Amino acid sequence: MYNRRKFIKASALGASVLAVSAPGFANNPLSNDNHAPITGKPIVISTWDFGVAANQEAWKTLAKGGRALDAVEAGVKIPEADMHNHSVGRAGYPDRDGHVTLDACIMDEFGNCGAVAAIENIAHPISVARMVMEKTPHIMLAGDGATQFAIEHGFKKEKLLTSESEKAWKEWLKGKKYKPVINTENKLYKTELPGGKTNHDTIGMLAMDAHGNLSGACTTSGMAWKLHGRVGDSPIIGAGLYVDNEIGAATSTGVGEEVIRNVGSFLVVELMRHGYSPQDACKEAINRIIKKKPQTAKEIQVGFLAINKKGEYGAYAIQKGFSFAVCDAKKQDLLIDGPSFY
Ligand code: GLY
Repeated sequence: MYNRRKFIKASALGASVLAVSAPGFANNPLSNDNHAPITGKPIVISTWDFGVAANQEAWKTLAKGGRALDAVEAGVKIPEADMHNHSVGRAGYPDRDGHVTLDACIMDEFGNCGAVAAIENIAHPISVARMVMEKTPHIMLAGDGATQFAIEHGFKKEKLLTSESEKAWKEWLKGKKYKPVINTENKLYKTELPGGKTNHDTIGMLAMDAHGNLSGACTTSGMAWKLHGRVGDSPIIGAGLYVDNEIGAATSTGVGEEVIRNVGSFLVVELMRHGYSPQDACKEAINRIIKKKPQTAKEIQVGFLAINKKGEYGAYAIQKGFSFAVCDAKKQDLLIDGPSFY
């Protein structure tokens, strides 16, 4: 568990923060692509409490005046590599057949994007997604083709199923009950989970760099014990992630099927285009999910996280206990308990 030096209720903080100026940025001779004026207000936000460590990694790039795209890739690689994280990357729980299949996507300030779906045996799907974006004319590679592409481009092929994940899978096989546990970090729910553990989901990360440019990344092992070949929202541009450098960016976590059904992240960005604050946009997207399937919504978690061009951010979830992490020049490990419908 990360050290929560500051844990602030969203209700106390409000939906947005004042833009924080980063001393030194204005004079920083940035070496990377200067396609926008320096704003001096870099910020990175990401889903769940594992976002704290991920943000800190991303911040290393942003603090040097680096590109948001580089920041988000570096950031989400932290939970992807975490051997105790069973919902993202290397140590993710497998599907019902024992395969660890990973989904990820990435999007930059130019609208370039790349994704991999149901990739196996590769620990960092986000970097493969970026390579799909940069080295191919395509946007998404899936399954064996994605793995083959990764190996051809120098990624190490490795067995991802850890002994801990295998043990949990074999335990699940005894009952074979398919009922996703609501993703939450709320203390009220923790005791209901095996071993009282926190139940995370996808990491979605959004960053604005010192030029005011936005990028995002989203990566997950998807639902534990899913059908082999199931792909969630996380690698789907517009569902798990969307970036429009004129308006803002959004990402999602939770039950991907409901996010895909509503093209969630695109919807959040479009609502911001029409004047919604990041939090109100996330709330409206959640309301649509609930309106469409009110019974289903009672038993699932979906959360959205968004940022606009002013650096204001917000989130909203169906269920309590959806936290998100914020990092800028003044707040390095802020974790916010996001507002929710229930
Ligand atoms: N949001 C992750 C998934 O549904 O796979």
